[in-house]
Amino acid sequence: MCSVPLQLFLVIFLLKISDGQKISFKNVTINWANDIKNETIIVTADNLKKTVPTGEKVSVNVNGDVPVLYEQSIYDIPNLKSLVLSKVNLKEIKPGAFGNLPLLRYLDLSFNKLSEIKSGTFTNLNLSHVDLGFNLIATLQPGAFKNITVEELYLNSNELTEIPSGVFENVTFTSLYLYFNHIRTIAPTAISTISLKKLHLSHNQLETIDPRIFNNPELTRLRLNDNLIKFLRPGDLKNLPRLDDLTLSSNKLTEIPDGVFNNTNIASLELDLNKIAKIATKAFDDMPKLEFLDISMNNLTLWDNNWLAGSSEPEIFMAYFNQITELPDEAFKNYHRLEYFNLEYNKIAKVSMKAFQKSGHISFLSLASNEIDSWSPDLLRNVSIDKINLGMNKLKCTDLDEFFGNGTTQIFC
Ligand SMILES: *[C@@H]1O[C@H](CO)[C@@H](O)[C@H](O)[C@H]1NC(C)=O
Ligand SMILES: *[C@@H]1O[C@H](CO)[C@@H](O)[C@H](O)[C@H]1NC(C)=O
Ligand SMILES: *[C@@H]1O[C@H](CO)[C@@H](O)[C@H](O)[C@H]1NC(C)=O
Ligand SMILES: *[C@@H]1O[C@H](CO)[C@@H](O)[C@H](O)[C@H]1NC(C)=O
Ligand SMILES: *[C@@H]1O[C@H](CO)[C@@H](O)[C@H](O)[C@H]1NC(C)=O
Ligand SMILES: *[C@@H]1O[C@H](CO)[C@@H](O)[C@H](O)[C@H]1NC(C)=O
Ligand SMILES: *[C@@H]1O[C@H](CO)[C@@H](O)[C@H](O)[C@H]1NC(C)=O
Ligand SMILES: *[C@@H]1O[C@H](CO)[C@@H](O)[C@H](O)[C@H]1NC(C)=O
Ligand SMILES: *[C@@H]1O[C@H](CO)[C@@H](O)[C@H](O)[C@H]1NC(C)=O
Repeated sequence: MCSVPLQLFLVIFLLKISDGQKISFKNVTINWANDIKNETIIVTADNLKKTVPTGEKVSVNVNGDVPVLYEQSIYDIPNLKSLVLSKVNLKEIKPGAFGNLPLLRYLDLSFNKLSEIKSGTFTNLNLSHVDLGFNLIATLQPGAFKNITVEELYLNSNELTEIPSGVFENVTFTSLYLYFNHIRTIAPTAISTISLKKLHLSHNQLETIDPRIFNNPELTRLRLNDNLIKFLRPGDLKNLPRLDDLTLSSNKLTEIPDGVFNNTNIASLELDLNKIAKIATKAFDDMPKLEFLDISMNNLTLWDNNWLAGSSEPEIFMAYFNQITELPDEAFKNYHRLEYFNLEYNKIAKVSMKAFQKSGHISFLSLASNEIDSWSPDLLRNVSIDKINLGMNKLKCTDLDEFFGNGTTQIFC
């Protein structure tokens, strides 16, 4: 009668023992390098420590199959500075696998089969580069990266649909790469608590820029291209005072209202490949640092000569592939240091006789591939444009002969 509990006890006991044998490394090759390079085959080991030479700082590259990193499998290696465990079919990391790695700076776990990062997986590490890209990560548990310092964290090309709060709790970061996921929601405090400088969220499914979420006083670069953003609202960027480079290409924008970009520090603004049909007159006013503006490949029909009042004048302005039909009077009056201005592939048929009045020096203006059918020599009189491309219009290029040799204007036709 009492043999049944005894057998049960034995089963549990044996299970406990086999659970205790947490062999992470079985028949794997490690390449290591300190002042010399060598290769070692691990037949079986529960901790990398036994294989890695002591002494000088060492970089380790593991090859073979490592399906699970058990607790303390990469532990207590005081001279480990770089570890590559990429393409090793890694499916699971038990919390506590990494620890006591004071010199570890570079950790590459990319191209594996991880689906979840559990709470406490990366705790108390001080790293410069962590690559978790190209896995199957769909879940980041709160506390997954608790109290780690990392300059660059790559979580790109995974299966994330949301960033819940607490995932980056007490993390010190510089750059966070989340591109090529399926992120639709970000909890309001998930990233606003991190002192980020660069955030790449391109190729996700975000629909708005919520200033509660994007509340990062140190952020300088924000990539949001290839999302599903339909509209921008005044104040969307109000909590990003240092933002200098914003990419909103390939979204679903149809209109740019006033009050979104004014008084930001944006130097480079990419709005190309949307469906923008209207840009409010003051949409780009008061942008004191603007240098590069791209509104190409949209659905604009109107060139507004009042855009950019009070802004620093861009050096590069891209507006190709729109539906602009006309260059009005003083079309370029707000531009005085343009290096490159591209208005190719619009539908410009009419160029006002005063179109170039009040413009400053332009190094290169391209109006190629439009529908201009006449060009008066008076248009560019008293205008400083080094080169202008009028090719692929409806002009007879011989009409333009009189411009050649002027010395200030070079015309391509
Ligand atoms: C060890 O791995 C190699 C290839 O990585 C494989 O050819 C070999 O069969 C494996 N040996 C064992 C005992 O699993
Ligand atoms: C390199 O590894 C082999 C065995 O894996 C070992 O016999 C040899 O001593 C090692 N060489 C050095 C310089 O550590
Ligand atoms: C955070 O991690 C550092 C090591 O990077 C450690 O010294 C410190 O004690 C940790 N703090 C907490 C609260 O765990
Ligand atoms: C992390 O390591 C760097 C050196 O790479 C060091 O300057 C810094 O103080 C460390 N931070 C912590 C929290 O240990
Ligand atoms: C974050 O760190 C601060 C100070 O180091 C600490 O007071 C706080 O409890 C930490 N938060 C969590 C959720 O661990
Ligand atoms: C931006 O412009 C809008 C209206 O055009 C105004 O309400 C807002 O205060 C401006 N923002 C800043 C930061 O000046
Ligand atoms: C472009 O704008 C016109 C109106 O100006 C509209 O009829 C058309 O549907 C728009 N095209 C796209 C692709 O949004
Ligand atoms: C040429 O430009 C100067 C200065 O911008 C201006 O004073 C002058 O009236 C202009 N001349 C003509 C013919 O437009
Ligand atoms: C050539 O440039 C000068 C000075 O900018 C201008 O006065 C002259 O009219 C220009 N010639 C032609 C043909 O435009």
